[in-house]
Formats: sequence, C-alpha cells, structure tokens
Amino acid sequence: MQHFASDYMEGAHPLILQRLLETNMEKTPGYGSDHYCDSAKEKIRKACHCPHAEIHFLTGGTQTNATVIKALLRTYEGVLAPETGHISVHEAGAIEAGGHKVLTLPQEAGKISARSVEEYISRFNQDGNRAHMVKPGLVYISHPTEYGSLYSKAELEALSAVCKKYAIPLFLDGARLGYGLMAKASDVTLETIAKHCDVFYIGGTKVGALFGEAVVITRPHLIDNFFTIIKQQGALLAKGRLLGLQFDTLFSDNLYFDIAKHAIDMAEKLKQGLAAKGYRFYFQSPTNQQFIIVDNEKLEQLAQTVSFSFWETLDEQHTVIRFATSWATRESDVDQLLALL
Ligand SMILES: Cc1ncc(COP(=O)(O)O)c(C=O)c1O
Repeated sequence: MQHFASDYMEGAHPLILQRLLETNMEKTPGYGSDHYCDSAKEKIRKACHCPHAEIHFLTGGTQTNATVIKALLRTYEGVLAPETGHISVHEAGAIEAGGHKVLTLPQEAGKISARSVEEYISRFNQDGNRAHMVKPGLVYISHPTEYGSLYSKAELEALSAVCKKYAIPLFLDGARLGYGLMAKASDVTLETIAKHCDVFYIGGTKVGALFGEAVVITRPHLIDNFFTIIKQQGALLAKGRLLGLQFDTLFSDNLYFDIAKHAIDMAEKLKQGLAAKGYRFYFQSPTNQQFIIVDNEKLEQLAQTVSFSFWETLDEQHTVIRFATSWATRESDVDQLLALL
C-alpha cells in the first residue's frame, strides 16, 4: 500500500524529535513565555523581514482560522472568502459557530480576485439596506489554495490595495505555506506576504512539525489582547514551549524551506510520471498537491493499493482525487506509487 492521501501522515521531522528529547527534562515557564518561543519568534521575524511582527503559536489550522477571524471581526461583520476556501467548506462551520458569517466569493482555481472583493464591498456600501446586512469586515485567502494554486505577487498586491482602500484586514491561511514558497514558478516570498497581509500564519503541522501554526501579525496592535483571546478560545497551550521548540528548529539552518522544497521535487516527479501514464489533471498545480481525474471503475481498483483523498465528484462516471507529497516522501515511494498506477 502506498500512502499519498495527505501531507500530515507521518510524525515529525527527526530533528524536531531529537530536540524534544534533548530538552525533555528542562523546566520552563508555561503558555509561550519560555526562551524557545522567544527564539523562534525572533527567527520568524527575521525570515519575514518584519522586525515588529507580533507572533503567537497555536496548534492546528481550523483553531487558528477560527481564533484569528473572531479576533479581527466585530459582532456584525463577516469574512469574505473563496467559495472553495477551507473556512467555507472544510471547517464544519467553525467560523459560523464563532458568530460570523463566511461571505463567499466566486473563485478561479481556488483564488479570489481583487476585483471581486471590490465589487462585493462597493455593492454592499451602495445597498440601502446595508444596516440590516452582515458587513464584510475581513478578507480570507489561503496560499496555497485548496487546489494547490498560488497567488502571484501582483495578485497579492492588488488584494492588499483593495483591503487598504476599504480599511479591512487581509488574512492569509498558510497551513501549507512552505510548499507555496518553494514552488518553482512562485514569485512570492515570506517578505512579500508579510508586506501585504495584516495577519498570516506559517503552517507547521503539514510541513514537518508534530503540530503547530505560527500566527504573524504584521501590524502590531492590530488585535488588542490577542493572547487573552487565544486563551478564551481554548487555544493556548500550557506547554507552549513544545510549539516554540518546533518552530525554532524549523527556522534554524533553513530547515522549513529545505524540507518544503523536497516535497515540491517529489510532486514534480509524481506529476511527470502521471502525465507519462496519460492521467488527466483536473488542475495544473505547482505545489505538493496534485489533482487528477479518474473514472469510477479505476477509482475502486486504485483504492485497493493506494491511499489518496477523494476531492470531488466530477460527473457520474468521474471523480477528482488528490495525491499529496510531503517533507517525508521518499523518491522510492513515488516510484512505487507510479508502478501501482
Ligand atoms: C488551507 C488549510 N487551512 C486550514 C486547515 C485546517 O487544519 P486542521 O486540520 O489542522 O484544523 C487545512 C487542513 O487541511 C488546510 O488545508
């Protein structure tokens, strides 16, 4: 059996486990006030070229989205997001459970455009009934998107400009950020993201950590008392050093970027192999998630020997499935997967 269902099937990068073991018996203060968290925050600020960024560590993606979005919105505001965005479809209504509507926008390859954001906001502003409606108070995007696609620098600049024009924050979900940053054709760096987004997070869970997401608030004081809001959401880890230590390791010696690049190299190999075998791609993804269209008979046959993710039903005969490579994928795993296909 070959496992390509997701990029969080293994534990953690061995260097993280090694440091956890080495520091296991050390006593440190709780809730992120330890020296490992301080060190990780400093390294992240440096990598983002954003010396004044405020950084907080949380444990998972849905938790981070729900906490950040709740903290950024007023009670009567909602969040604009692509109709296929993670918060729109795959978080079981976590944002709505926090009291905020997800206001969906049409997407192309998982992305929304500055134009569609502007159109939505100006339509809202011109609506005579707007005082009775949910106000758009934030824009959410993810990079990479649900389809593994990426925003370009120009697209991020345009989204940021429209957000600034209407004085609403831009929030980027970077659950798979490393894989986006290391994709070959990408012109977006951590510095670009820190420059154009008010808040974003650097995903660890899918990129080598046991668990953990690093929230970066690039405009200090944007969220008052965020630490207390995290606590109120039940998202503040008492043994916060476990998060700090993991990010400190990931942001030492270029580890985060090197392991993400490895996943991209494995995805490229897989992509070439799939193309050579005549598989049809649903979408040309430059990142670690690859989407192909298979007929349903083949689907059942594949499921006997390969684990993949069901993505969506295309039509009565065809299904879109996803293969994901990760920091841990070996070249021999890809060879064996291709042999099974
Ligand atoms: C873009 C994105 N954001 C958030 C999440 C949620 O992460 P978690 O499963 O840790 O809640 C995922 C999970 O796949 C994701 O792909």
